[in-house]
Amino acid sequence: MPQYQIAYSPRLSGEVAVSTAKNAVLPILAAALLTQEEILLHQMPRLTDVDHMLDLLRACGADAVKEGRDVRVRSVAVGSPRESALLRTMRASVLVLGPLLARTGECVLSMPGGCAIGQRPIDLHVKGLQKLGAKVEQEGGVVRAAGALRGANVYLDFPSVGATENLIMAATLTRGVTRIENAAKEPEIADLCHFLTAMGARIAGAGTANIIVEGVESLHGAEYTPIPDRIEAGTLACAAALTEGSVLLEGARTDHMRALLFKLSESGVICQEDARGLRLRGKARHPMEARTLSYPGFPTDMQAPLMAVATQTHGLSVFLETIFENRYMHVVELKRLGAQIRVEGQLALIQGGHGLSGAHVTATDLRAAAALMLAGLAAQGQTLLSDPAGHLMRGYEGLEEKLSALGADVKKTEAPPA
Ligand code: UD1
Repeated sequence: MPQYQIAYSPRLSGEVAVSTAKNAVLPILAAALLTQEEILLHQMPRLTDVDHMLDLLRACGADAVKEGRDVRVRSVAVGSPRESALLRTMRASVLVLGPLLARTGECVLSMPGGCAIGQRPIDLHVKGLQKLGAKVEQEGGVVRAAGALRGANVYLDFPSVGATENLIMAATLTRGVTRIENAAKEPEIADLCHFLTAMGARIAGAGTANIIVEGVESLHGAEYTPIPDRIEAGTLACAAALTEGSVLLEGARTDHMRALLFKLSESGVICQEDARGLRLRGKARHPMEARTLSYPGFPTDMQAPLMAVATQTHGLSVFLETIFENRYMHVVELKRLGAQIRVEGQLALIQGGHGLSGAHVTATDLRAAAALMLAGLAAQGQTLLSDPAGHLMRGYEGLEEKLSALGADVKKTEAPPA
């Protein structure tokens, strides 16, 4: 079981490179199922979620090989994945639904149930695919989708990231024109569209709420490097904001991070974009208000890391979580370190300015784990962060190593089995 020892680290400084975005890589890997030809992807991050997605592609019949930082995928003959354990491991496995349905005319998947941060239903994926003509049944935790698809107008009741991605992927090989209205606008979706376009797809409106896909007969091989991870960069930016330091996040796409950078700037951190990436100087001092929204609003994935920062500002910060119904699990753990936080439904009130002190805390989900590691940097003494489910390795490439490179005192160890 991985665990992390974190000691008080008041001053971060130096340079660190941002990894490729997990949330761009996962749908792009799923999209590799749309063609028989070879897909070559560069700069793949070393994450267990990426390994799980590669295993899932193999379970669908694809040949997926890692070569250093590159991944090659060939999906000559594919079908529904045979292993259900893989599907339960990772929520993003639902992303193979659209590609498999479009490519083979059917897909049977064991669905992941609820997860720690919320129920995470797939009704929007299903409704959209039904609009395209699929017959979809859900029974006993299994979803069966089948049918020849045809272009249609789809309106999403909520701009779900995963549903938008599934529908775009399905529409690329669907006869006729598909219009997705109220689509999610996250940069990772635009990146998926750019990758699909490199495979020969016809897509207009990438990165907007109105996406138009004109189906083609087949897609071809492509070589691609996905975008840098705005959430990893944002987490490192929050680490910098907790200290008095000076940090360069090499390769960070500040145009994807506006909402967070506004919050940090308002709080007193100097955020500067230059040719190499994002430079941060100074400490967050003023309290903040943050309401999580779909992109370009403030990202729910940054809520927990920014809350760690808010505990060390002077005054009352107010956070509102509107995307996931159970995304304040880090609060109990932050309170173990001495943070003063009150949660009322979707609202969290953070009374900043109380010193933190080291304690034993547990990672409840991916972004919670990151927030606790950050809070540990600001806590006097030693913090022990247990991560029994390996959340950090799922979604951050060596966060502890990157923080260490900036001068933080963080070590990863393996706890003996209980
Ligand atoms: C993606 C990201 C995740 C991020 C989230 C929101 C990936 C791999 N993961 O997850 O890091 O936190 O976007 O920015 O890219 N919903 C429904 N019905 C559906 C689908 C979603 O009600 O069919 C709800 C969810 O329960 C949730 C909200 O919509 O409350 C947002 O979910 P969605 O945008 O779909 O997130 P994911 O794609 O799962």
